[in-house]
Amino acid sequence: MRHTVTLLPGDGIGPEVADATVRVIEATGVKIEWEKMEAGAEVATKYGTPVPDEVINSIVKNRIALKGPLATPIGGGFASANVALRKRLNLYANVRPVKSHPGVKSRFENVDLVVVRENSEDLYSGLEHIVVPGVVESIKVITETACMRIGRYAFLYASKNGRKKVTSVHKANIMKLADGLFLECLRRCAREFPEIAYDEMIVDNTCQQMVMRPEQFDVMVMENLYGDILSDLASGLIGGLGLTPSANMGEGGIALFEAVHGTAPDIAGRGLANPIALMLSSALMLKHLGEDRAGHQIEGAIEKVLAAGTTLTGDLGGTATTTQITDAIIAGL
Ligand code: NAI
Repeated sequence: MRHTVTLLPGDGIGPEVADATVRVIEATGVKIEWEKMEAGAEVATKYGTPVPDEVINSIVKNRIALKGPLATPIGGGFASANVALRKRLNLYANVRPVKSHPGVKSRFENVDLVVVRENSEDLYSGLEHIVVPGVVESIKVITETACMRIGRYAFLYASKNGRKKVTSVHKANIMKLADGLFLECLRRCAREFPEIAYDEMIVDNTCQQMVMRPEQFDVMVMENLYGDILSDLASGLIGGLGLTPSANMGEGGIALFEAVHGTAPDIAGRGLANPIALMLSSALMLKHLGEDRAGHQIEGAIEKVLAAGTTLTGDLGGTATTTQITDAIIAGL
């Protein structure tokens, strides 16, 4: 069977890791017709928007996309292309599995958790204004609909993937109404899934617990901002952003797969990027497409290369280039 997938190589190291990932998928023998689209900083300069309508139309038509990172200017300029994509496609659940890899030097060897991040609201609503000069208001929006939707997603994910526990991460001691609503919804979801254990943890304590005893966590569900921060923290527990995949899942079966990391401007264009995070994202994508064998094959080949430890990129303590590690992974398929 041939699949058609929208490919967004993105900015910075995006094109390098996207090329490497396409090579690995081709080597599995799965037939994919790539509909290559441009989005991101350069596109914003050319067309005035980082996400042109044709990109959205392509993803809506194909229902599936693989995406490299997109740059967002800090403190001004155009609004985040990632947030725009997630909003326009209603990609409400961002699923970020974080697992220790044998052979990778990191602080822990026993991490196996999944961050389920609400992707559509919270402080990412983009509602900011200057009240008077020197006073800015950023509006945090939390709705029952979005909390119930992400809660059910987290419990269903746990149930389908043999996971035992869901932990809600919150700050309801301070944001009694907003995070209070989130918790109230999660408790309702927990009652719908009595076979899955449920607990709650305040976000600051969660950070401490994650760096002290990460093995206690299984599925973790949280609002958008906490999910953004805690998933990078979780990546750091297992060897860094070069190893962490993600899936953005929407209503109506639209799914967009991307690495957790950004455009890595400090190493872009030098052939030094670690392509594994996007390759692992593509393995999630292949499984979503029903190509389980190819997905497992890519994950297995990556594990072999990491365990051997001889062909690793700089972020993992090695000296290999993007091409060299990609060749090693293809050889290990
Ligand atoms: P970043 O993730 O791009 O980089 C953080 C650090 O990790 C850098 O030292 C970088 O070299 C390293 N790193 C990241 N990915 C790597 C890889 N695959 N291989 C080796 N090293 C890697 O985060 P930063 O610097 O905060 O953001 C840069 C830009 O990326 C910003 O414009 C930001 O908005 C954007 N961004 C985009 C995301 C997306 O498209 N989903 C996610 C996060 C950031």
